[in-house]
Amino acid sequence: MGSTYEILVERLARSFQRLVPGSDPVLRTSERADFQANGVMAVAKSLGRPPRDVATEIAASGDLDGVATIEVAGPGFLNITLDPAFLASQLRALIGDERLGLTLVAPPKTVVIDYSAPNVAKEMHVGHLRSTVIGDALARTERLVGNQVIARNHVGDWGTPFGMLIEHLLDLGEDRAIAELSIGDLNTFYQGARSAFDASEAFQRRSRARVVLLQGGDPETRRLWHILVDQSVAYFSQVYAKLDVTLTPDDVVGESFYNDALEGVVSDLDALGLLEDSDGARCVFPPGFTNRDGEPLPLIVQKRDEGFGYAATDLAAVRDRVGNLHADELLYVVGAPQAQHLAMVFAVARRAGWLPDTVRCEHVAFGSVLGPDRKMYKTRSGETVKLVELLDEAIERAYEALVARGTDLDDASRRELATQIARAAIKYADLSTERQRDYVFDLNRMLAFEGDTGPYLQYAHARLRSILRRAGEVELERATFSLENTPSRSLALALLGWPDAVASALEGAAPHRLCTYLFDLAQRLTAFYEACPVLNAEGAVRVERLALCDLAARTLALGLGALGIAAPERM
Ligand code: ARG
Repeated sequence: MGSTYEILVERLARSFQRLVPGSDPVLRTSERADFQANGVMAVAKSLGRPPRDVATEIAASGDLDGVATIEVAGPGFLNITLDPAFLASQLRALIGDERLGLTLVAPPKTVVIDYSAPNVAKEMHVGHLRSTVIGDALARTERLVGNQVIARNHVGDWGTPFGMLIEHLLDLGEDRAIAELSIGDLNTFYQGARSAFDASEAFQRRSRARVVLLQGGDPETRRLWHILVDQSVAYFSQVYAKLDVTLTPDDVVGESFYNDALEGVVSDLDALGLLEDSDGARCVFPPGFTNRDGEPLPLIVQKRDEGFGYAATDLAAVRDRVGNLHADELLYVVGAPQAQHLAMVFAVARRAGWLPDTVRCEHVAFGSVLGPDRKMYKTRSGETVKLVELLDEAIERAYEALVARGTDLDDASRRELATQIARAAIKYADLSTERQRDYVFDLNRMLAFEGDTGPYLQYAHARLRSILRRAGEVELERATFSLENTPSRSLALALLGWPDAVASALEGAAPHRLCTYLFDLAQRLTAFYEACPVLNAEGAVRVERLALCDLAARTLALGLGALGIAAPERM
């Protein structure tokens, strides 16, 4: 079953394409009717006919018979109103459908999502929060439509800083280093290494020698490096658990994973004639990338000192994801400042034939998290803010708010609920902003039960669940969906739009579209309650209203779930 919108588009397209092959009805939801088709103007123009004529002809075509009525409006718009019987049958089909009309992608695609990607022995900062939250929402939504998601947590676990980090580990002593890292005190550890490096030339020499040992595969150095990686990954896992993010240690495929493939990247680029020498470094100059002076920009694959860099690793990763994982789609959930790097990697991979045109590859870029002063979010002393601390503070505040409201929960349940609300607050604030834009981190606003917030949507869901609990057993299949007034009809139309909201969010890798949809749904619910008392109604009217409540509750739960947000039964 296609969505109601898709059924309309398909039928309407017949009329349009009889007139102009390939033309698009441009169907949108509308204030004046249920839908509005805006594609007439373009068709009329290419036929050289008056738009109203064309509109009238389409309206008379009968293509929407049994589904909707068409009315010509203004200079040539089509207002479309669904037939009550069709509308009711579409809604009835949702009652027994767990997925509420959302069809599975057939055949399923393999989608590789590169997200989170913090750096070993470095604190996760708010930039990683965005990548983690957006990436996880996309992963869940892709899985919901039946696609196979392969998460790739491309952690920074290689490079010259590891010489210094390992030497610092030795100076601290393994036990103390592990103690520091295992409690997630990554800032202290990293800064300790940094200051030792800045303070002592002997330490610098040791660090450089250690990098050589590490790259040469010296077993003892490897063991020490592993301590750093394992401790950090264990810490990241704690953060993911706290955030309720689906990433597991198995998804960690760090930069070092590609080490053995780097030489092949360089020699294959060379064989393809794409490599050029620039100041002793080996580079590719993909067409279309220039600096401010109009000079071609290099993507450096091998540095002058023979070392491989970030770009070579990313090229190897593309090859692995396309060649070995058989990805149909590659999504990189990485901050906007890396746009040029990724665009160049993709361009080189395409030229080298490692990334065929059939594979969608997209940089899912996002903006910054700002503090109240609208500058990059930092602590008062100018340090990066620890993610866990943000979350802990949100949990504390949500907990206090629950205590103040005097809910009759035992303390453990209250803690659990506070955690769910806090996660919802932080995730939703991040996801509901169009991802390219910056946003101000403001816990008060995020945690509010009113307005466009995660807790508001959770509350909308819990309220529905409470109504449904109090109603007791009802045979929802008996609902006739006569939709007696505007608010109930408007709610019904929103419910039918669920598959389209999901499709649109996936198409643009844009979870905020799903947020907008859910918020709109919740607002329609408010108007619905005003016009349609549920529990006091009787007979068929009561069954119908409860069925609408049931569909709305399930839509909210499924939608919040796709965003990685829990939908508690009670609040
Ligand atoms: N570790 C990097 C950082 O913290 C992000 C890695 C993004 N993914 C990638 N394939 N380059 O900035």
